[in-house]
Formats: sequence, structure tokens, C-alpha cells
Amino acid sequence: MTETSDEQVPEPSAAMQSAAMQSAAVAATPGSSRLPQPAVLVIFGATGDLTARKLMPAVAALESKGELPAGFEVVGVGRDQISDDDFAERMRSAATSGDTSDWTEVAARARYVGGDYADPETFRRLYTVMAEIDEQRGSGGNRLYYLATPPSTFASVISLLGEHGLNKPGPGGSFARVVIEKPFGEDLESALELDRQVHAVFDEDQVYRIDHYLGKETVQNLLVLRFANAVFEPIWNRRYVDSVQITVAESLGIGHRAEFYEGAGALRDIVQNHLMQVLALTVMEPPVSMDPQGIRDEKVKALRAVDILTPEEVATDVVRARYERGVVEGEEVVGYREEDGVDRRSQTETFVAMRLWVDNWRWAGVPFYIRTGKRMPRRLTEVSLKFHNAPHLPFAPQQASGMGPNTLVLRIEPDEGISLCFGAKAPGEAFDLRTVALDFSYQQTFGSTPPDAYQRLLRDALAGDPTLFIRSDEVEQAWRIVAPIQEAWRNEDVKLGRYPAGTWGPKEADQLIQRDGRAWRLP
Ligand code: BG6
Repeated sequence: MTETSDEQVPEPSAAMQSAAMQSAAVAATPGSSRLPQPAVLVIFGATGDLTARKLMPAVAALESKGELPAGFEVVGVGRDQISDDDFAERMRSAATSGDTSDWTEVAARARYVGGDYADPETFRRLYTVMAEIDEQRGSGGNRLYYLATPPSTFASVISLLGEHGLNKPGPGGSFARVVIEKPFGEDLESALELDRQVHAVFDEDQVYRIDHYLGKETVQNLLVLRFANAVFEPIWNRRYVDSVQITVAESLGIGHRAEFYEGAGALRDIVQNHLMQVLALTVMEPPVSMDPQGIRDEKVKALRAVDILTPEEVATDVVRARYERGVVEGEEVVGYREEDGVDRRSQTETFVAMRLWVDNWRWAGVPFYIRTGKRMPRRLTEVSLKFHNAPHLPFAPQQASGMGPNTLVLRIEPDEGISLCFGAKAPGEAFDLRTVALDFSYQQTFGSTPPDAYQRLLRDALAGDPTLFIRSDEVEQAWRIVAPIQEAWRNEDVKLGRYPAGTWGPKEADQLIQRDGRAWRLP
């Protein structure tokens, strides 16, 4: 498929004109491209991995595309004692793409504050640096704090920001916002407690809980596919959909993140956040408009409809496992317990698969099979909807044997795009049915792969658009869904399966879906 050119567009009818007027109205509401305001971006965890891998390249790319406002400044806060110049050098070397000449200027002006996140002195110095910037630069007194630190530091950073009056805009400023990285809490109780601590200092409209999956173009396109087209929504329900699969597979292992991953595991690292967000967008009802509250209200309703598993269901409908030594993309790799920094008797899972139900009119009786794993054969995130078979096939069984079910596949990454798989007649005298696909590729249609999610989300946070950030009640609902699983897994006797690195998971995951007479889309 290609983008339709203007010449091919027919004269608009009255209905189309009214739809266009409505979408113009939508474009003027929050959720659309508002311009970022001048601000100081304060990054806690400035010398860490996330800052180097994601935040710096995102800021550099925004700068080189001219999407940052004049008066944009960066202040790094970290535990290492380095100079402003050292920090500037790190910023420069992290900028990997685009024209970095402007970026070099932003980096050259950057300031750095070294100190412990629980030490008030760090915040006194930050206060002084901010006051200097307010006086000398055109940053307008606006602040965007980015918490790219280990989750254990969130509460103290937030409370010390409050104690030093940094939760309020500086002189002449109009906002002070805080972006909080995932995971937000470790379980339902700690998430609620963290929320109380956050709300003691910041109002909800100042809080931007980030899940970078929402910044992915392909994830946002779920909303467009569903709610801007007339053909999909009528079949997006139990009458037409047999089952849904959501897969987040990674070929990577845990890299140097053993300390974090040992405490998180796949359930907290991916299921509670990325998978729940993609699930919510897949099952939600159409929002009235694209305003931040409307979308998030519908997502919360969707998550509330997810059936909370009983302890018995956790035992039968959830599988967990860890990878063992194997070969991934042609390379021999060690097992999870042999990774640097991992306990040799670790009970942490690197793979989770489960069957969930969404208890509402739209989805009653449709199983949702979701899975995620590290060290799988390749990186792949996709949502697939398998449709019911035709009620009656007038073809002989052997003629139809080469045809699979109608399936709509949304490729979130890589090879971003959408495929609609259906049966077609192979050329020849006989009715020989084969599965073929209508394919839409981002690369082919738009000539580029989508930009990294962090660019979009940073820009939105600077512009004050919370649509793609997680509201407090969404986090709570997502934790409610995983809570019974966490509870059951506290019991050390619960089985932790195994799979060789470079495979699609343990046999138990296959059994989970095969007992329903179905199979994972990718074996
Ligand atoms: C992060 C997880 O949130 O998402 C990582 O902590 C994971 O473990 C990453 O690798 C996957 O993100 P992406 O954008 O590469 O799919």
C-alpha cells in the first residue's frame, strides 16, 4: 500500500467535510502537536545507561530537527563527581545521529550537579544552579525533571525536590513537571505508596509517568487503525475475533542490568507496563476525542475489565521460565543464571506467557494470549487478531489445506507495519487455496522508519501533553492484574520452567495455548 496522493482524493462530500472539521477541532485540542516551551530539563541519573542510550540521543535529534524551543537548557544530576565539561562531553558522544551542530551548543551550556539523591546538599546546589540559569538564560523559569534513576531513589528525589521548593516553577515560569520512569512501584501496595509520596509534592497534572511503548508510532497507530477507519471497528469484537495474541520478544539478554533485572523479572519489566498498555489500546472502547482524559479514561475502563486471575488460574494460565545456554542469531550465549551479577540460584523469570480474559460485551469469550521473553530467536513485538473461520467452506478439505485463518497482524517493531492475511486462489485449474497478505510497511510508505519513542515523549512532556503518559489510576489497574501472579510466585515451589536461549520459550507455553486448540503465531 502507498500513501494516496492528493489527485486521487475524490471531491469531499458534506459528511467528509464535517468529519474534516471535526478532525481540525481535534488537532486544536491537547494530544496534538503543541509547541514545547522554553525549559530546563533536569536529568536525575545523568551519567546512567538510560540517559546515554535514550535521553541524550532523543534530545540531540529534537534539537537537530529544530523541535526544541529557544531557551532550552540541560542540567544533569548524578552520583559521579564530574565537571560541567565532562558532562558536556558525555552528552556529545551520546548524540549518535543527525546534525549535531546545534546539539553541541546545548551540550556546551549544560550544567552538572554531582551528589547523592538522598542528600539535601545535592538539592541545595541544584537550586542554586537553577537560579543562575533562570537569571542568565531564557529558560523562562520552567522545569522538567526526568527521573532516570533506580526506582528505589524516586521517593527521596521527589520529597527533596519538594523540600527545596523545586516542585514549583521558577520566577516567571509556568510549569514544573516530573517524568517518572518505569517501573512505578514493585507491586500494588508500593505503587500506591509511591503515588502518595508523589502527590504530597506534585499535583497529578504535573506528573508524567512514562512507558516508552506509548511513544512508538506503531503503538499510537493502533488508535488510528481502529478509530479512523470504518472497516476494522465493526469486526473488532467477539463476533469476529477468535483470539488475540500479543508478543514482546527480544533476542537480547539482560546486558549489564543484572542488578535491576534480578529484582524485576519479565513480569514487572514488561508485562505490568508495556504489555498492559498495548493490551489496553487493543481492547479499549472508542474515545470521544483524542484529549488526554478521554483516552486515558477508556484505557482505565479496559484494564478494569480484565479478569483478575484466581490462585488456581495463575497455576494453570500463567507460565514462567528462564533461558538457559543456547544460540541466538548465530551466537552462543550463556544461560540467565550464568550472566554476570545474577544469583546462581536465581528464581527470576526471563519469560512469561499467560491467557487473560476481558470481561465485557465486546470481548467476552475471546482469549488473549500474551507473552514476553528475553533471548528469543529474534526481536519482535506484534499484536495479532485471529478471526473466526468462515462458517462453511464449499471447497474440499485438501483444497483448503494450505490456507490459515484470517489474521490481522500489527507489527509494532521491527519491520513496522500491518498485514492482513486471508485466503486466495493459487493460479491453476484447481481451487488451491493459499494464505496471502495485504501488507502495509512504514518504511515503504513513508520512506523512513519511525523515530525513537523518547523523542516524541520528551517533546510531549515539554509541551505539556500528557496523552501518551500513564495516569495514576492506570498504573493501579495494571498492578491489580499482575498482583495475584506476584502473590502466587512468592511461593518458592511454583515452577520456573526453562528454555534454551534462541527458542520461542518453554514447552509449557506451547501447552498453554495448544490445550485450547490454538498455536502461537510464531512457533
Ligand atoms: C524496557 C525494558 O522497558 O524495554 C527492557 O526495561 C527492554 O528490558 C526494553 O529491553 C524493550 O524496549 P524496546 O523499545 O527495545 O522494545
